Amino acid sequence: MKTIKIFDTTLRDGEQSPGCSMNLSEKIEVAKQLELLKVDVIEAGFAVSSPGDFKSVETIAKAIKDCSVASLSRSVKKDIDASYEALRQAAAPRIHVFLATSPLHMQYKLKMTEEQVLEHIRESVAYARSLVPDVEFSAEDASRSDYAFLARAVQTAVDAGAGTINLPDTVGYVLPQEMQAMIEYVRQHVDGIENVDISVHCHNDLGMAVANSLASVGAGATQVECTVNGIGERAGNASLEEIVMAIHTRRALMDADTNINTKQLYRTSRLLSKIIGVSIPPNKAVVGANAFAHESGIHQHGVLAKRETYEIMTPESIGLTTNKMVLGKHSGRHAFDDFLKELGYQLMPEELDAAFAQFKELCDKKKEVTEYDVEALVAQKAAKV
Ligand code: KIV
Ligand code: ZN
Repeated sequence: MKTIKIFDTTLRDGEQSPGCSMNLSEKIEVAKQLELLKVDVIEAGFAVSSPGDFKSVETIAKAIKDCSVASLSRSVKKDIDASYEALRQAAAPRIHVFLATSPLHMQYKLKMTEEQVLEHIRESVAYARSLVPDVEFSAEDASRSDYAFLARAVQTAVDAGAGTINLPDTVGYVLPQEMQAMIEYVRQHVDGIENVDISVHCHNDLGMAVANSLASVGAGATQVECTVNGIGERAGNASLEEIVMAIHTRRALMDADTNINTKQLYRTSRLLSKIIGVSIPPNKAVVGANAFAHESGIHQHGVLAKRETYEIMTPESIGLTTNKMVLGKHSGRHAFDDFLKELGYQLMPEELDAAFAQFKELCDKKKEVTEYDVEALVAQKAAKV
């Protein structure tokens, strides 16, 4: 079974999303939690971008012992020097160099020819490699690049010493089969590619980031870049908890798993949400408040009889203590009775029928029926046992 590396970029790409910025002590708290979660790489920031970012990369590099710590750099000496300085005290420093390879970016943003781009890749990767043993090269906008040129760019980075080649879907544009085709092309056309990690970095503009990342793993990617709660530029990055639990839950089919301590997923998600003040949608996969909640009577009955009927993973596996039976208008008599017993009430069958009918009427009037509402309904009918 393959081990897929998890490269967390919550503190770099994630922090680039509006309203998600963090101060130094908050970033350290998140980095420590990522270390507990056992991610393989923490991208701590973009050292050259501001004195604040430099300081946070430097402080995190010093504080983290069990993960590699990366700093992003454009393909220029000044950026690579800043990353190197900030990472000096890291136990396992990684310099992450990037340059765009798509015609659009090369012509309008970089104003460089293909040959100039290749030369920059060669020089910057070799320079970074002269400073640290672990260098990642990202071909920004790889998914919209011409595959033949992309393969030349990747070959240049591999020959210059990059140990990880990242192929981002920078604008979240492609479909899973296109990610797959790109990776297969690169694997077939780059000498020595089998000796490096192929990484993917998918954005979520079309809601495809997790699916694209998983398809990439199927095609041979051995590292996935992602963020906690999927925060990131525009519609965000691929969500770490979804990727990890998808691989873990379907590990037999994927013949792969990660090093992640999945029991820390819920805590990590809540910590980030609390720090940045961005709440998690209740229906968010894996960590949303409703991810392990059952309201419909049929589902509640099924789960009470055998959890696997409606639960494909256990709440305990992500660090929750239990699933949740929510009482609402879709709940059945069976779940209502169980709920009463939990509150300490034992009703005779005809009392239960009457209370259940009243409960259903209340559900039509109120969005959420609480345990206090239920207690009020049955308090006169039954003695507490
Ligand atoms: O989305 C992207 O292409 C990036 C790179 C800098 C890795 O964030
Ligand atoms: Zn990105």
